[in-house]
Amino acid sequence: MDIAQDANVLIRVRRRLPGHDEHTEQVIASASDNVLRDWPFRPLGKREQAYVSVALANDCDEPIWSDEAYVEPGLIHSGDILSQMVGPAWREPWSDRRQAPLIRTELQLRDTPQCARLYVSAFGLVDAEINGNPVGEDILNPGWTLYNERLQYRTYDVTDLLHAGNNAMGFWLGDGWYRGRLGFWGGKPNVYGSKLGVWAQLEVTFADGSTQMVASNAYDGAWKAAKGPIISSGLCEGETYDARLLPEGWSCASFDDSGWERVTEIDFDPLTLTSPEHDPIRRIGSHDIVSMNTLDDGSVIIDFGQNCTQRLEFNVSTLPAGTTITVQHAEVLDNDGDLFTRPLRRGIQRDTYISDGKNKTWEPRFTIHGFRYAKVQGWLGTLRPEDIVCHVYGSVMRRIGWFDCSSEIVNAMHSNVVWSMLSNFVSVPTDCPQRDERMGWTGDIALFAPTASFLYDTEAFLSNWLVDVASETDKYNAVPYYVPFIPLAEWRKPENIAIWGDAAVLVPWALYMASGDVHMLKRQYALSRMYIEQVSELLSEDGVWDRPPKLEFGQLGDWLDPTAPPEDAAKAMTAKELVATAFYAQSVTIAKHMAEILGNDGDKSDFEALEHRVRTGFQRRFIKADGRMTSDTQCAYALAIQFKLISDDEGLSVAGNRLAALVRAGDYTVGTGFAGTPYILPALTATGHLDEAYRLFLSTKCPSWLYQVSMGATTTWERWDSQRPDGSFNPGGMTSFNHYSLGSVATWMHETIGGISHWRRVGRSSWYPRCWEVQSTMHMCATTVPMG
Ligand code: BGC
Repeated sequence: MDIAQDANVLIRVRRRLPGHDEHTEQVIASASDNVLRDWPFRPLGKREQAYVSVALANDCDEPIWSDEAYVEPGLIHSGDILSQMVGPAWREPWSDRRQAPLIRTELQLRDTPQCARLYVSAFGLVDAEINGNPVGEDILNPGWTLYNERLQYRTYDVTDLLHAGNNAMGFWLGDGWYRGRLGFWGGKPNVYGSKLGVWAQLEVTFADGSTQMVASNAYDGAWKAAKGPIISSGLCEGETYDARLLPEGWSCASFDDSGWERVTEIDFDPLTLTSPEHDPIRRIGSHDIVSMNTLDDGSVIIDFGQNCTQRLEFNVSTLPAGTTITVQHAEVLDNDGDLFTRPLRRGIQRDTYISDGKNKTWEPRFTIHGFRYAKVQGWLGTLRPEDIVCHVYGSVMRRIGWFDCSSEIVNAMHSNVVWSMLSNFVSVPTDCPQRDERMGWTGDIALFAPTASFLYDTEAFLSNWLVDVASETDKYNAVPYYVPFIPLAEWRKPENIAIWGDAAVLVPWALYMASGDVHMLKRQYALSRMYIEQVSELLSEDGVWDRPPKLEFGQLGDWLDPTAPPEDAAKAMTAKELVATAFYAQSVTIAKHMAEILGNDGDKSDFEALEHRVRTGFQRRFIKADGRMTSDTQCAYALAIQFKLISDDEGLSVAGNRLAALVRAGDYTVGTGFAGTPYILPALTATGHLDEAYRLFLSTKCPSWLYQVSMGATTTWERWDSQRPDGSFNPGGMTSFNHYSLGSVATWMHETIGGISHWRRVGRSSWYPRCWEVQSTMHMCATTVPMG
């Protein structure tokens, strides 16, 4: 629909306080200012409910109203927070194999509720039940944040679960990120604390407007704890569940809890509670079984056809009491058709279920796995496909971008990019979903954020994570390698390193490019500025970032380029100081644009001077008189071209030609690692070498994007050769089959094959705040590339 420049829109809100009359308000606004507007009405009060809709204002016709969007405020003031954090009082070992508690309480309601909200959070992970029914569909609540600073609570409409008279609430608690083992080289338990607890506040409103509140507490004797059926659980390790230990009816009102212990209060700062802007982790799909194969020892290997973040639910009703089944999960199979688990390291992903002979279905609760294959052992009788459901999980986000073309293998590659993204957008943007890392590695998302933000609306998810990035950056005077940061092995002390640090600039910028949301940019700007200032202190006289960090690896540079040996991922063809200076120059330029957009003239002119210094330093140090670069590599030319580090057309042409020559000399195989990969095809395209770009993109030789697909990949691999052409697996300790970084090529696919870009023009010349710019490089994709 064309919207005339002078058209107006109507914005309407129906608002009501439960138990009171409804009011409608309406405003008229210019259609040219109808995206990301400030709330145009009186602010919502406590417990007020609002239904918002919009319509195009038209003099003649009745307005046609959009569907209504529902909004209600969370707990607005600290005075609204009345509950305590409560948990079991029993002593527990300082280990990560601890039986998980159940917490319960009962409550009398004087009438049928007209409206009821449960606000809930935890130290650890929490699932709530009311009168024997699950509350909501979220898993792994409250997600992962810097718990000591920001503890998220979720709000549930529980009106239909409650009734007049006696009711009960129950809470499952699990270790999760709070006190479960985190990280590599054995990891660390109890990072945030050793005591699990639940924080819950139930607010009920009756038809007459009166309210009743139930708050978790340790003083009224109504909140009790007992050990539950989860014998142990770890996000990476898996879960052990003994169904015989589940107290039947424990979250129902008639349950006898005389044997349960009173809870104790756990020290906690209510001011850390925050209502998340992003959606929770939920089931986002399912996979059918592709094949089932019984091994000689009787165990069954099941192929679900797709590697990703998922969990299995079993029909266990046929298992006699005392039967123990184990389920292990892996991304790939070995030559014998068994699970290949070496790359998982500590992340063994093994769940165990002990039957009580009564339970009907079972799915682990406080763990999550990255896998395509599962191995079931101990099943009595025949395991049938209909006994298993494979549920896919991820943080809920809205899909906004798709790609489809006539080449099956290209579509498969794009699908792999999407699956690696979904697998790793689980509360925080992680590197991989399977082995014992699953950390919020900053470099990976710095490179992948533009692709992610084309495919999904990532603004709320990534903005939420950036709050913690800013907080850690301030605390450590450096952007940590991963956020939330935990000192681990050689990553003990955060130091700024290129790309991983550049996330402070590149991620907010990718979000801004995708959304045009100046409010968001304003909120993130302090982080970007901090990083630029911190690194400016590390430069040489001539503006080059050549001072190596104390980190054992030094700069990570073009991490995992194809020449990196299995044992040294940072050993690359391209000089690390070249990569570092190039990325920093790019970040300074972006920070300058940010300052300009936000009207911060002082910063803008400071960044302009810094930009000049770093760009000049880069040119003097890394570009030779004949236009060749000191590192004569695909990565070096790609960065110099894409970050506009070559000032004259002649130099640009030399660089483009040399890059194309290197690609031809490499027989159309990729020569870049994490750092260069997003930029190699755009650099070839920008310098008139579109044919080389396509031939490289469509190559199926190792290393290349389509090589992975030809080897049967269903997600993007961490290494170009996580599986080698002879079928063997890369012996490196870091060999994941589900890392999104190398999938950053999808941005080139969207822009060059699809002709759609998020990039906005910034600067004095022209500036399109919200429209997408269609490029002129439309090109038909090859149609006949065979699947391997
Ligand atoms: C992770 C990467 C990460 C890197 C940094 C790896 O172990 O999986 O994706 O960025 O370490 O060193």
